[in-house]
Amino acid sequence: MATRRTQVGIIGAGPAGLLLAQLLMRENIDTVILESRDRTHVEGRIRAGVLEQGTVNLLGEAGMGEEVMRDGQVHGGIEISLDGRRSRIDLAGLTGTSGVTVYGQTQVVRTLIAKRLGAGGEIVFEADGVVPIDVESNRPRLRYRSGGVEHELVCDFIAGCDGFHGVSRSHVPGARVYERVWPHAWLGILAEAPPPSPELIYARHPRGFALYSMRPPGRSRLYLQCEPDIDPAEWPDGRIWEELRRRLGPDDAGMLQEGPVLERLVASMRSVVTEPMHHGRLFLAGDAAHIVPPTGAKGLNLAASDVHYLSRAIVESCRGGSGARLEAYSRTALARVWKAERFSWWMTTLLHRPVDHEGFEARILLAELEYLLSSPVAMASLAENYVGLPL
Ligand code: APR
Ligand code: PHB
Repeated sequence: MATRRTQVGIIGAGPAGLLLAQLLMRENIDTVILESRDRTHVEGRIRAGVLEQGTVNLLGEAGMGEEVMRDGQVHGGIEISLDGRRSRIDLAGLTGTSGVTVYGQTQVVRTLIAKRLGAGGEIVFEADGVVPIDVESNRPRLRYRSGGVEHELVCDFIAGCDGFHGVSRSHVPGARVYERVWPHAWLGILAEAPPPSPELIYARHPRGFALYSMRPPGRSRLYLQCEPDIDPAEWPDGRIWEELRRRLGPDDAGMLQEGPVLERLVASMRSVVTEPMHHGRLFLAGDAAHIVPPTGAKGLNLAASDVHYLSRAIVESCRGGSGARLEAYSRTALARVWKAERFSWWMTTLLHRPVDHEGFEARILLAELEYLLSSPVAMASLAENYVGLPL
């Protein structure tokens, strides 16, 4: 068995693991990332792309400020379409910020990988059977296979950044998992067509929710609420465009410009929180600890805020500090996680066609939406959460 040492062993090269490694590298803390998939797979995943200002700042600290400034689009507002009538939420005006930045997560991952490898940092792709051991001791280790050889990585700390299907969560004994599986799913589409509007449109329609987003410079990222068990093959281009037009309503349907659909896949929706996010010297961050439905665009931003708290706590500890921040990490991160879970749950409930779409609750939701769109106070609450609560 090949044995070596690092200060922080990181499981997973998603946004959480990559961003943590960059933030620690800038503090001269040595890290190794173990990633089960190959580089092409990791760089090919397409996910939500709305960055809070706090996330933009962290990406800046991680050395990719220039890329985000150059390719990101600052959006001062979003639009909500209710049964074909559009209203604008003035994110910037209501919060006194510049709003959010639209920048694809795929690009975040590609850039962070390039920066890390360019600076001599290590990512072991296709690391098999990664398992944390002795995390309760002060010499936790990561065992894995790479190139047919057994390896052991001795660490000071282990960061479990291995997403929802990773191994880390199961190494927090006695963890409580809070979960809601939503009855809705999204058919996600990437299209070679300009977006219908310069700002994102979240549409609530009797036929179901639709989202009109973008991947700058010229592509559309579009979503349709669907049943979780549909076969995307039953959604040829023509059917997708027709449904997107219908959910935008007759007045706005003309804003859609069609183009070839480059990708279509169905994403199920879950809300999950694992408590605590810490056991011994193993710390969970990002999707390894919590999942949000994509309606509030909080997944990547929560991964970033966890990593913000965790990187500062690790730096404090490595510099001979008391370890108090590490001790508080789970509590500190969860306080923010639950608020984003609440917001994502609320946006999801409000905008999707409920299963019982003719019952009492459906009418209450409609009343809430009408209230939201007529009340600057209610809009300000949405805006405050959408641009991101303070770190
Ligand atoms: N060993 C090593 N790596 C693993 C293992 C394992 N056993 N299991 C999973 N991984 C890797 C995955 O292949 C993936 O590259 O861990 C990484 C986890 O990355 P993400 O799933 O992207 O999770 P995270 O970094 O927390 O980013 C959260 O990404 O999932 C979206 O919407 C989510 O925006 C959010 C953000
Ligand atoms: C996206 O652009 O993929 C996106 C934007 C906003 C969301 C979800 C996804 O709420």
